[in-house]
Amino acid sequence: MTPYADRRARVLAQMQPGAVAVLGTAPEVTRNGDSEYAYRHDSYFYYLSGFAEPESCIVLVAALGERTARAILFCRAKNPDHEIWDGFRYGPDAARTTFGFDEAYPFDELDARMVGILSNVPALYYALGAQPDLQVAGWLNAVRALGRTGVTAPATMHHLLALLDEMRLLKDAHEVGLMARAGAISAAAHARAMRATRPGMLEYEIEAELLYEFRRNGAQAPAYSSIVASGPNACVLHYNANNRRVLEGELVLIDAGCEFDGYAGDITRTYPANGRFTSPQRTLYELVLRAQAAALAAVKPGQPYSGIHDAAVRVLTEGMLDLGLLDKRKVGTLDDAIGTRAFAQFYMHGTGHWLGMDVHDVGVYRDVSQADKPSRALQPGMALTVEPGIYVRPAEGVPEQYWHIGIRIEDDVIVTDTGARILTNGVPKDVAEIEAWMKAA
Ligand code: GLY
Ligand code: MN
Ligand code: MN
Repeated sequence: MTPYADRRARVLAQMQPGAVAVLGTAPEVTRNGDSEYAYRHDSYFYYLSGFAEPESCIVLVAALGERTARAILFCRAKNPDHEIWDGFRYGPDAARTTFGFDEAYPFDELDARMVGILSNVPALYYALGAQPDLQVAGWLNAVRALGRTGVTAPATMHHLLALLDEMRLLKDAHEVGLMARAGAISAAAHARAMRATRPGMLEYEIEAELLYEFRRNGAQAPAYSSIVASGPNACVLHYNANNRRVLEGELVLIDAGCEFDGYAGDITRTYPANGRFTSPQRTLYELVLRAQAAALAAVKPGQPYSGIHDAAVRVLTEGMLDLGLLDKRKVGTLDDAIGTRAFAQFYMHGTGHWLGMDVHDVGVYRDVSQADKPSRALQPGMALTVEPGIYVRPAEGVPEQYWHIGIRIEDDVIVTDTGARILTNGVPKDVAEIEAWMKAA
């Protein structure tokens, strides 16, 4: 079985007997005039199909008594005229065999066929509220209109995505392979950009090095807007104008990752434009690196997700007190400064997120089955980022030597049976490694 057929079977096994699930892919989106954005499939749809064409829909029919389960694909019909202009499309017959569906039909038959498929079934699973382009209400009304003839419409709705989120949260072996590739390409791109950097370059010239490395390794696109932030721009968390000139003596913070076959890499590195850290830069950098090491050590099966952030916060806050970023006379002890969130002046984001097909991937962070909804325990197969940072904006009482320094260090990890497997080791990280790598350029 392909991983996709295997996942469909796992969905079918969780459904109410005889129920139907419907999941469409993403629409094509106009950019301007008659140009469209590069097409990106829906992540859930791709997870269950491996099929990347627009105008497609999956229909799953769960087994009931003697009737076996069925997986049906609706997709664009073959069309030699369109294919001259826009290229190959599978068409239902080839798509059915290639992607392992039981049946496949042209997409323009979806509305008519759904009326029959939804007749006399007990329940419908679909992406409640998330796929307005599917005519679900129209199908149900058409089924109800057959009521006089004894046909019954689904009486129960289930949210399909909640079920899929739990599956997507635990990566299977096929996904881990793709994520390792996304991580390796993203790391190679960071290494290339780091080595190409010189004071005087424009941020977008450095961004171009990332894009070149992504594409030449077969990644389809950046997984999100790349951040190339020099000097004070590093303190703007979602900076992506990437059009400033990098000055001598500044740091460069790059947060970028590629999408490879539908899976995201997400790496941040911060390094000196001229290849040598100044003393204050180095001090803060090593603090963030220690925080990341503590956070990575908290990635263990059975441990709470929140322990990762707590570990980073403790190290960072202690450093802020030692370096005088936080004034002990004002904020009190380490535990006081953590309790009052005094650290948030310089560390205002979380220490990571689930990672997968979406850079901020699906999956709840809390155990919602318990009344107090505690932080979720880590399990082998979960994929996440670990990304502490420090961002020092000028302010009264903050030592001036640290002003405008922004540092983040971000890696991608999979929870294993014993700890964490880091997917993004292919780019220098500690001070000596970075300086050696840039010196050799
Ligand atoms: N690049 C987005 C993030 O790090 O969460
Ligand atoms: Mn990132
Ligand atoms: Mn991230």
